Amino acid sequence: MVDVKPRQSWGSKLGIILAVAGSAVGLGNFLRFPVQAAQNGGGAFMLPYFISLLLLGIPLMWIEWAVGRYGGLFGHGTAPGMFHSLWKNRFIKYFGVIGIFGPLVILIYYTYIESWLLGYAFFSLTGHLSQAVGVESKGAFLSGYQGLVQNQFFQNLWPAYIFFVITFLANFWIISRGIKGGIEILCKIAMPILFIFGAIVAVRVLTLGVPDLTHPDWNIVNGLGYLWNPDFSVLTSAKVWLAAAGQIFFTLSVGIGVILTYASYLTKGDDVVLSGLTAAATNETAEVVLGGSIAIPAAFAFLGPVAITAVAQSGAFNLGFVTMPLIFDKIPLGMIFSFLWFVLLFLAGITSSVSLAEPAVAFMEDEFNLDRKKAVWILGIAVFLLIQPVIFLLGHGVVDELDFWGGTFCLVLFATIETILFTWVFGIDRAWEEIHHGAEMKLPKIYKFIIKYVTPLILIVILASWIWQQGLSVILMQGVTPANLPYILGTRIALVGLFLAIAILVKIAWRKRKAKQE
Ligand code: PFF
Repeated sequence: MVDVKPRQSWGSKLGIILAVAGSAVGLGNFLRFPVQAAQNGGGAFMLPYFISLLLLGIPLMWIEWAVGRYGGLFGHGTAPGMFHSLWKNRFIKYFGVIGIFGPLVILIYYTYIESWLLGYAFFSLTGHLSQAVGVESKGAFLSGYQGLVQNQFFQNLWPAYIFFVITFLANFWIISRGIKGGIEILCKIAMPILFIFGAIVAVRVLTLGVPDLTHPDWNIVNGLGYLWNPDFSVLTSAKVWLAAAGQIFFTLSVGIGVILTYASYLTKGDDVVLSGLTAAATNETAEVVLGGSIAIPAAFAFLGPVAITAVAQSGAFNLGFVTMPLIFDKIPLGMIFSFLWFVLLFLAGITSSVSLAEPAVAFMEDEFNLDRKKAVWILGIAVFLLIQPVIFLLGHGVVDELDFWGGTFCLVLFATIETILFTWVFGIDRAWEEIHHGAEMKLPKIYKFIIKYVTPLILIVILASWIWQQGLSVILMQGVTPANLPYILGTRIALVGLFLAIAILVKIAWRKRKAKQE
């Protein structure tokens, strides 16, 4: 631990909790969660969801906070260096590459979608969005905005591009201001606003009563029931369990490396047990209480049980950008509620996207001694270029491909590696001690067993069953629309290129460090 140059740190305990909660609370809570729940049996989804939270999500939170803080003491803010501090093996650092690569992959599509929210908040206020009347028209508004078609709403991609540039610059400006002066301040401001706006929209939805008197059973109570009435028959479906575990990873931002990086700015005596738990609880409140009370119940009350199933099947974008605006058109002061909804989503998005950029910046600062401004410029230019294909090739399945590798596959893979590394290679006794260092509360003993056996076992089962059931067909691109094949292939080649580029940088950094030591 000698010769570690001073690193940045958080300004306060509340600051890091809000920053981790800010990373966790995102589009996943308000759009992905309701859609996943509705697609997987509504109430039935919630049982595997809470079990995954207790056995995977929360243990991973503690593991990542502890590993991150430990690595930070050795001057490492990202997984390659952290893994190397846990195990002096020459290859382990390359597994850590996922902890920089994964967040970057998500960042590339997430930032663009985040910018749509800003655009939609703007067009809610100007009244343009409500000029699109009816489902077809709202759908046309969205595809026009995305530049997929030219229509009466949009002749070209420029409006979307301008909102993208504003969103992009806002993100990188905040990141360039650093941990305490940028990310922490953003989260301290954005998180309370987000919760207040979320509560206002949720209360409005919950007091809708029976909006359509010709259908008295289309009401909010039944809408909530759609999400909460258990249907135990789907519990035996592997698909539901995978979806629930996947949602827990995505929503908590675990298994990808960003919490490692945030925790690396802690100091040795800082608590991780209670803080990690508080951040997770904040995310779950936003997800289950707010996320669960807005989109699905509202859609149920206005569209009824048949249409809502179709909405859920058609995905998160449709729910957020088509169905919700349609509903806002039907309530008094709908424009204002629409604006609040999109601002709330934008704030949820930006506090997540800054966290996705931080590992790459930290990597350049820590392993290449770059100053932060320079690191942010390099990353900014690289990410700006990488986002262009996402913007211009949107209709060709590129986002889904990035989301699959970055937002699903890498999470489970990386979580498996870090859990086994920490609890088996570093050793459960040392890991337990590390988690409890400076802790304000002691974990129940059962969690020692869970973290050592249950969490890794479930992770391995998920990974193995995925490889067994779908691995080959995904690799061979079976099921991809033929017209999209070249784009999907191109995306994969780019992803492999990006991974290799980071791996080479890791190799160079280690070689330089070795040369310095000799
Ligand atoms: N947790 C975010 C959400 O729910 O939208 C998404 C996310 C952010 C995933 C950061 C992963 C991550 F590292």
